[in-house]
Amino acid sequence: MATISGLFGTGVYVVFKRALYKQIDKRLLTLAQSATPSFAAVRDQGSKYLNQVEEVPWRDIFNRDQQSLEWFDENGKLLGRKGLIELDVPPEVGPEIIEQPETGEVFRTHTLSVFIRNNGQVGPPSLVGFIRATQSSAEIKAAEDELSGILIGGGMITLVLTGLGGFWLTQKAIEPIEASFLQLKQFTADASHELRSPLTAIKASIDVMRNHPERVHPKDVKKLEAISGATLQMNQTLQDLLFLARTDIDPSMPVEARQLAPVSLNQILQNCFVLLEPLANEKKMVFQSKFREEIDILGDTSQLSRLFSNLLENALQYTPEEGRVSLDLYKQNRVAVVSVRDTGIGLATEEVSKVFDRFWRANKARSRRQGGTGLGLAISQAIAKRHGGKISVTSELNIGTCFIVRIPILDSKRSSITKAQTTAITDC
Ligand SMILES: Nc1ncnc2c1ncn2[C@@H]1O[C@H](COP(=O)(O)OP(=O)(O)OP(=O)(O)O)[C@@H](O)[C@H]1O
Ligand SMILES: [Mg+2]
Repeated sequence: MATISGLFGTGVYVVFKRALYKQIDKRLLTLAQSATPSFAAVRDQGSKYLNQVEEVPWRDIFNRDQQSLEWFDENGKLLGRKGLIELDVPPEVGPEIIEQPETGEVFRTHTLSVFIRNNGQVGPPSLVGFIRATQSSAEIKAAEDELSGILIGGGMITLVLTGLGGFWLTQKAIEPIEASFLQLKQFTADASHELRSPLTAIKASIDVMRNHPERVHPKDVKKLEAISGATLQMNQTLQDLLFLARTDIDPSMPVEARQLAPVSLNQILQNCFVLLEPLANEKKMVFQSKFREEIDILGDTSQLSRLFSNLLENALQYTPEEGRVSLDLYKQNRVAVVSVRDTGIGLATEEVSKVFDRFWRANKARSRRQGGTGLGLAISQAIAKRHGGKISVTSELNIGTCFIVRIPILDSKRSSITKAQTTAITDC
């Protein structure tokens, strides 16, 4: 809108200014033309004629204060002047713009050549002099300034009104979208929640059947195992979905009714490390951790464990045998930094930005493994956000990947997590 009204205003200004100057040039030409019949009289009687004459043809169109008329002989010598403007410049035929250096005032002039054919003269008439009509541009300048003031002021008011109108309209237009978006989130939360009960029933039935193998036909044992595996996976996916859906609906509210409390990040990381060590050993990998300092943060132990074990599991899963995975913890100003680095299959540049998308998994052929849903990193990101932190990732295909988690450190005197956040969390 600013561009459109800017262009419109400039267009109006240019056209209006041009029309004004055209009008003044035309007026000056008419004035000079109407003064030509008096040329001979001015030449012969000079100022005497000019002081006396009242009934001259140009009298009605002449503005004494703003205009002047000058008569020159054929050599440019001034014969007479009517009006207050005195230009010390020789006449130049046609329209002209003259600026007076002392005052900086600008004048527009129109000069006509005067030809007279003497009685009995044959051939073309001879040049006898010039008549110059002059007008100050001050009046036009004032009109120009007024116009630009109106245009700028009008443009500003238009912009403010358009902005307010646009804002109001956008709010109105977005309302149903927001409502349906919220409905969708609510639906996901409700659906995940509702699906949990039948799934629990299936799981319980399978458990009963597995506890009584004699009742199961040997041919069905494998099928039962498959159903049990699928149920477990579905249960995990549902829990993940429920977690994300609830976080979407109210990001400040913890899913479980637990309070955030000071926790030792070293302890959480150590537990995750120990838990996953067997998997690393199985793949003959170098799995190492380095905690440079003791760091406490305000958080939820189980959620933070989930965050870091997701990252470590990924690192171990997407790194081939005999690779290397390292876990580091250090402090940077008032932020705890946890890095999980691997020498695995890595990600292509265009894939890096998608890793946190829900259900996104890289090229299945490269990273196929049993059980993954593509929700792990989305959950890790949601957890990091709810702890006032964030996760970033750098990766190179076939070289390795590095996830870095930054979470504000708990300050014993003043919590680094804002008061509002803490209150929201404790309230739940
Ligand atoms: N360290 C890593 N190296 C290479 N690719 C990775 C790494 N971590 C994640 N990815 C890619 O990002 C995808 C998404 O990871 P995410 O953890 O969200 O899901 P997942 O591991 O496939 O399943 P799950 O929900 O069980 O964790 C993975 O499928 C994988 O393609
Ligand atoms: Mg994962």
